Amino acid sequence: MGRRRDSRTKVELGDFQTPPELAAEVCRVLAGRGVAPRSIVEPTCGTGGLLVAALDGFRGVERALGVDINGAHVQALQRQVRARGDGDRVTAEQGSFFELDWEARLAELPGPILVIGNPPWVTSADLGQLGSANLPRKSNFHGRAGIEARTGKSNFDISEWMLIQLLGWLERRDATLAMLCKSAVARKALAFGWQAGYRIGDAAMYRVDAERCFGASVDACLLVCALGGAAEAAAPRCRTYESLASERPRGALGYQDGYLLADLEKYERWKVLARESSYPQQYPYQWRSGIKHDCAAVMELRREGAGYRNGAGEVVEIEDELVYPMLKSSDVARGDGAHGDAAELTRFMLVTQRSVKEDTAGIERTAPRTWRYLVERRASFERRASSIYRGKPPFSIFGVGAYTFAPWKVAISGLYKKLALRVVGPHGGKPVVLDDTCYFLACESEAEARLLAELLASEPARELYGAFVFWDAKRPITTEILRRLDLRRLAELLGRGRELAWLSARGCGAEGPALGGGAEHGPLGGGPEPASAPALGGGVERG
Ligand SMILES: C[S@@+](CC[C@H](N)C(=O)[O-])C[C@H]1O[C@@H](n2cnc3c(N)ncnc32)[C@H](O)[C@@H]1O
Repeated sequence: MGRRRDSRTKVELGDFQTPPELAAEVCRVLAGRGVAPRSIVEPTCGTGGLLVAALDGFRGVERALGVDINGAHVQALQRQVRARGDGDRVTAEQGSFFELDWEARLAELPGPILVIGNPPWVTSADLGQLGSANLPRKSNFHGRAGIEARTGKSNFDISEWMLIQLLGWLERRDATLAMLCKSAVARKALAFGWQAGYRIGDAAMYRVDAERCFGASVDACLLVCALGGAAEAAAPRCRTYESLASERPRGALGYQDGYLLADLEKYERWKVLARESSYPQQYPYQWRSGIKHDCAAVMELRREGAGYRNGAGEVVEIEDELVYPMLKSSDVARGDGAHGDAAELTRFMLVTQRSVKEDTAGIERTAPRTWRYLVERRASFERRASSIYRGKPPFSIFGVGAYTFAPWKVAISGLYKKLALRVVGPHGGKPVVLDDTCYFLACESEAEARLLAELLASEPARELYGAFVFWDAKRPITTEILRRLDLRRLAELLGRGRELAWLSARGCGAEGPALGGGAEHGPLGGGPEPASAPALGGGVERG
């Protein structure tokens, strides 16, 4: 019991101390970059591994401050500091990052300041599940609310919040921030700082083997950035290094036109295809997520004889009415580019609604055996933690609408480390649905889906997405990134603009109104919708 509580606290506090060799290597890298602090601060210092390595690694340190929420860690550091004879210049105190008046404490310290650390690698959702209060009081710092908050988009890393606060406090001091953190956290903090116009100077990310150092299978780095002082003139760029030992960068990420970019060159080459962020709709296509139900044991089925077997292994005898063939990310990734084949489909999904909030009570009449099946498993639905289902009809799902039932789709996996693309057509006379690890464009015809797939597989599309996608992220592709490509401009650039306009005018019933008013005139030309069908399959655009 005691051990269980210990490991729970360890997770809650993200308590994984930096190994001494890594701490020493971090300080060597910083010294190599010319960092020469008079003050050192370690805001979540634990037993002070990085703080002590910094005392050893830099001459001329006059003051050092370490703070940690864990009193035992702080006492261990105090003992070490006394034993080293550093008691006069080092303060180690117990306190919470979220409570301390950091601005006042930093103001007491002579510059240059080095803020070094390894903040807890835990997310607000993890803490929510543990019922922990180790969170900032006002945590909606990206301004996300409502549905985004409830679908998990407002989940954030505690360390991201800490880094962003530190950037704000330090941007007017002569300071260096050096933090071991998830690479995704480093990128988000930098993007926040660049967007906010903070004085961020020379920035770098050195990849760290988190598996070896912390037993964590996540892409991690040492983020180093100079702040204040000469930082004002620096371009929003961050060099990336393969490891702490690398002398040469392997690339650079940056911030431009409101986008955080993984590849600046690719963006420069293809930015003409980037949709302005204010553009209201993806003409006339909208990237959608697949269906979310959080109840695979009941909702996901495999065909068995004349019936089905559900995710819990039970044989299920229900009507076919609400059962749809289904693809998951792995199926999409296995598809061969633009020529997917629905023949091998083995999975099915029970789709209980045609739109979000639709009353499910009618199922009792239209499919009574399905209704009984659902009612008998009501408890599985009631156990769903996500608040998106609260106050909704029983057996509700999410991410469903007319687009779900479009006969053709161009699907992309959100999980894979490549642009895994697949054309999906109907199967057994029914539209194929996708689970919520996939994204898709809804199409009315095969020709429309195949054209879109060809466009998305083209070099300009891949390069533009390559500019935006960080492949080491847990879920590298998002609808937000997919929507940044202007499909209409891409089609025009590839000489397929009229074809797309013609096909989408005849399709997109699943999406709402057809072209309505003809094609828009973009900077690449375009033109009105042709009266008759253009030759399909490409060709140079005229006039
Ligand atoms: C990943 S460990 C790193 C410790 C140390 N900085 C190192 O590099 O070895 C994270 C530390 O954050 C501390 N911590 C967690 N929440 C905190 C909070 N709200 N305020 C201060 N420290 C906190 C934990 O006690 C733990 O020692």
